[in-house]
Amino acid sequence: MTTNKRATFGSKLGVILATVGCAVGLGNIWRFPYMVGANGGAAFILIYLVCILLLGIPVMITEFFIGRHSHRNAAGAFKVMAPGTKWSFIGYNGVLGAFLILGFYSVVSGWTLEYILQACTGSLAGKSAAEFTAEFETFSSGIFRPILWTALFIGMTHVIIMSGVKKGIERASKVMMPVLFLILCALCVRSVTLPDASEGLRFLLQPDFSKIRSSVVLSAMGQAFFSLSIGMGCLITYSSYFGKHTNLQTTAIQVTLLDTLVAVLAGIMIFPAVFSFGIAPTAGPELVFITLPNVFEQMPLGNLWSLVFFVLLALAALTSTISLHEVATAYMHEEWQMTRSRAAVYVSLGVLFFGSISSLSMGVLSEYTIGGLNFFDLLDYITAKIMLPLGGMLICLFVGQRVDKKILKAELTNEGTIPFYFFNTYAFFMKYLWPIAIGIIFLNELGLLRWLTGE
Ligand code: PFF
Repeated sequence: MTTNKRATFGSKLGVILATVGCAVGLGNIWRFPYMVGANGGAAFILIYLVCILLLGIPVMITEFFIGRHSHRNAAGAFKVMAPGTKWSFIGYNGVLGAFLILGFYSVVSGWTLEYILQACTGSLAGKSAAEFTAEFETFSSGIFRPILWTALFIGMTHVIIMSGVKKGIERASKVMMPVLFLILCALCVRSVTLPDASEGLRFLLQPDFSKIRSSVVLSAMGQAFFSLSIGMGCLITYSSYFGKHTNLQTTAIQVTLLDTLVAVLAGIMIFPAVFSFGIAPTAGPELVFITLPNVFEQMPLGNLWSLVFFVLLALAALTSTISLHEVATAYMHEEWQMTRSRAAVYVSLGVLFFGSISSLSMGVLSEYTIGGLNFFDLLDYITAKIMLPLGGMLICLFVGQRVDKKILKAELTNEGTIPFYFFNTYAFFMKYLWPIAIGIIFLNELGLLRWLTGE
């Protein structure tokens, strides 16, 4: 649409791996397994797959449409497509949201580096479950150490962003994603060959339909959004670097399938191991930082498995922090007319500031809360429960209500050169069904649905 000269990804593989890198992250390896554990195993996975198919893929295609059609950053896209209207709120919501997510995501990402160091020095060995818990709590509530790791993680992200779209993001994704996949497969093989691994696999693969209730459905929808990075400007920004021959429909399907595959493999890596050592699968968010090192250290070569696992987690987190950083950097670079490197420096410094406060809010600043939430939890709540679903819902409404169907179809079929079989159904759903469905998740996440239905 616009003719400004912008960077693009260099190859089809680069497009897929960079976008999969944006989607695959702590959400797949840390959040998905504990959501599965807490929501009854296979039944949750089944509903998750339905959400991905009916909601995830179409909304991702829609974000790709906005990004590639406008060839602009997440906020600029709406200024180009709906000049002078309030729709640009969606873009600002995305840019601010990406920045705020980084404020807590970079802290958890930093923890992975601490565990990598501990695995390298052998200090995870020989600890009891209680010691793992106590040490994690002491570490995460400390002052300097977690902030240093957060800063290092932001520094690594910064270096890749500074190298540009093709030489930085694309090249890093092409190296990191295959490595991540290989590590994941190796850990899966290790896990399923443990004694009594079949019990964990059964938990993961045999649905118990009596566990399905409305809260499980809504949690699965929320998880699908977080995992696919929908509603936050990342997919719009990345697709603005897609070339005109990229097939947006198949790219969305491939990215979604790979993201889901990584999440399911993460489950296969974790549950057989957890069951094999007789630990409860419902451990919650601490599953990855307390339960798993404990499980690994009980295996032969435990330190090695811990090391490999935390390298996996760090890689997954890094490809996502890059995509979040890029949303804010591209916005400042293009809309505030500053050089890319200066924009990147401002974003990194800002994230370091927010990251430090969220890290300290687990310790010395834990008394300062809003609505009972410390700063870390507040950033998590505002982004995952408000900004993400709100962004997703408004994106559907924008394309459903405002965009000319001919323009939408031309972009999604590469000017009529590829088919889009159910276009009219897609356009109809975009206009009515999906905004309503996402609106329901939104109300539920805020706890308003329970209040409205009196449940
Ligand atoms: N999808 C990422 C994950 O699964 O960890 C998290 C994420 C990245 C959410 C980027 C939102 C976003 F815009």
